[in-house]
Amino acid sequence: MIKISDLCLYNKRVLIRTDLNVPIKNGEIVSDFRIITAMTTIEYVLKKGGYVTVCSHLGQPIEGEYNPDYSLLPIVKYLNDKFPFSFRLVKNYLKDKIIMKKGEILVWENVRFNKGEKDNDVNLSKKYASLCDIFIMDAFGTAHRTHASTVGLCNFSPISCAGPLLLKEINTLSQALYSPNKPIVGIIGGSKISTKLTVINNLVKKLDYLIIGGGIANTFLVAQGYNIGQSLYESNLVDYAKSLLKYNTIQIPVDVCVATELSEKSKYIVKSVNRIENNEKIVDFGESSIKLMLNLIKKAKTIIWNGPIGIFEFPNFRKGTKEISMAIANSTAFSIAGGGDTLYAIELFNIFNKISYISTGGGAFLTFLSGKKLPTILALENKYLDLKK
Ligand code: 3PG
Repeated sequence: MIKISDLCLYNKRVLIRTDLNVPIKNGEIVSDFRIITAMTTIEYVLKKGGYVTVCSHLGQPIEGEYNPDYSLLPIVKYLNDKFPFSFRLVKNYLKDKIIMKKGEILVWENVRFNKGEKDNDVNLSKKYASLCDIFIMDAFGTAHRTHASTVGLCNFSPISCAGPLLLKEINTLSQALYSPNKPIVGIIGGSKISTKLTVINNLVKKLDYLIIGGGIANTFLVAQGYNIGQSLYESNLVDYAKSLLKYNTIQIPVDVCVATELSEKSKYIVKSVNRIENNEKIVDFGESSIKLMLNLIKKAKTIIWNGPIGIFEFPNFRKGTKEISMAIANSTAFSIAGGGDTLYAIELFNIFNKISYISTGGGAFLTFLSGKKLPTILALENKYLDLKK
């Protein structure tokens, strides 16, 4: 892959794909880790005299529709408050000619408002690419997505290179897993069921134990024939989950906390997984599940963690995520953690300095660790080979 140190950035229009998809709760950024890590590359390009534009997605809005809930405005405000640079949010960058000023950093509004972004539409990718001389792919957290602002931009930009953060993540994660100490315990939770569930097939073969929580665990419970009431799960992945049940290293909950409504005040009850009623929703692990999982974590020499266990945004449904987070923090094992909600949990439980390596990626780092080639890395490698021809 081409690196930024190989390029002259002076007076060039440099577009940086970052992952500014930070967790925001009640309008507040609750973890700025992705912002801070993105800044190193932005500052480097500024220093080298490039005209800087930054692009990112935020959340999963409906494409083709502007939705203020997913605007990058709070992030741009945060950047302006925190750093001694001037950031300007631009909305109509696909239609209007935007005048760039040296030293000012343009931030494109959420790329997922653009129709064709998630389909890696060729015309959209070419349009994006026409707005830069050099494209820096630095969004490790989104490197597993074949989208117009990731793979499309790598393919069609005049010059595309791997950003320092992307390279750092790849190098560190590769080294960490080159000869890991065993047993390796994985903990996967959260609500992005399909991305994570589909890499478990590869990942499970590399791990000694795999603890599953969140919506992924619910899909496994359905695969085992349990009624999960109103809980979140992925119906079209139930058969796939069934096919994974042959791995006895996979550990799913044996009891859960269920509630009939989701609020900070709602009560829960602990139930065995075979007792869930139609009107109930799984909100956390139960006591026996927590105990079971903590015993596995105790055995670990290497820990890989992505995703919360329950609906931990509500303090009343937080126990499983908290106990597991603290067990990881207090373990002497080498621990790797990453992902938007995981970063939020790390901030919330104040364990930032107790994790051996924190990745900006969630789905991306799981996909990478599962041994699958990330599509953006492939695109950057192909671009390099094209240049050599
Ligand atoms: C993440 O939070 O893992 C990345 O920003 C990717 O987000 P996505 O799952 O919405 O593509």
